[in-house]
Amino acid sequence: MVELERLKQELKRVNAEYAGIRDIVAEQRAEFGRRINEKKMAILAKIAEAEKAALDAEVQAIDITAFTAPNEPVPEVYTQDNGSSHPLTTEIDRVCEIYQMMGFDVVESRQLDDEYHMFDSLNFAKGHPARDGYDTFRTEEGLIPPAHTSTMQHRVLKKYKDKLARGENIAVVVPGRVHRNEDVDATHEHTFYQCEGVYVSKDCNMGQMLGILREFFEKYYEQKLEIRTQPGYFPFTEPSLEFMIEKPRSLGGKKGDFLEMLGCGMIHPNVLKMAGIDPNEYHGFAWGGGMDRLVMLRYGLKDVRYFESGKLNFLREF
Ligand code: DAH
Repeated sequence: MVELERLKQELKRVNAEYAGIRDIVAEQRAEFGRRINEKKMAILAKIAEAEKAALDAEVQAIDITAFTAPNEPVPEVYTQDNGSSHPLTTEIDRVCEIYQMMGFDVVESRQLDDEYHMFDSLNFAKGHPARDGYDTFRTEEGLIPPAHTSTMQHRVLKKYKDKLARGENIAVVVPGRVHRNEDVDATHEHTFYQCEGVYVSKDCNMGQMLGILREFFEKYYEQKLEIRTQPGYFPFTEPSLEFMIEKPRSLGGKKGDFLEMLGCGMIHPNVLKMAGIDPNEYHGFAWGGGMDRLVMLRYGLKDVRYFESGKLNFLREF
């Protein structure tokens, strides 16, 4: 500090000295100016150096421990538990792994979609009453939080159709979060998860589809299962089926207890056509079903609302 003051005084003196230039004879003025300027520059450099040193000293003098937050846990504010993956996340991963082992690709579905993918590309005629079964929400911009993962069918078909030209098949599953305008109760949620499956080849058939689905459910529940189907209706499949499994014995099922697990069928020729696939040359099947129910059955859960509740006591059980 003292040094800095001294330098500043010296600078003043040099500036005053410079004022004397008026008394110097004309021929010596240039030399005089140059000499004074040199002195001045040297002092300014020393001042800058001294200022920096002063600042460094100040920074080092700060006692940072004075600012450290207390790191003792405050139990009523936060706990030291490790977080864990949500049970649906864990199970969706498991579902995808089973399908991947069977040769399926995984594509994630969207959380906002549009009228075209929600209805038109799936062969829902304009104004058809089947649209009412998929009553969901709308954003102010007219976007749709999708009511089913089938909204992804058109995208998947277009994305993978080059495979067909190369002589390969399309085999994709699409897990995703979906929404419906529901009265919420123990078995109905406005927000839930589905998994869609899409398969296209030159010669696939319903028997193969049922084989894939049985294999999936047997792997998922780790036991042999009886399956059953009944006719259904979806605008995007023809024919359409509802697929049921016998409630697993290990989960309290009795002989003849069948549970509907998903909708499925042969992809409607119009759906293939809209994606640029010739339905005279290729055939496809597709299915879609709820993941929450699948998981509830596996763990014997009684209330679907727990999944979206954020209840820690429930989540800690997994
Ligand atoms: N998207 C239908 C639903 O949520 C389920 C479904 C039925 C999906 C038939 C399909 C299908 O892919 O082929 O009710």
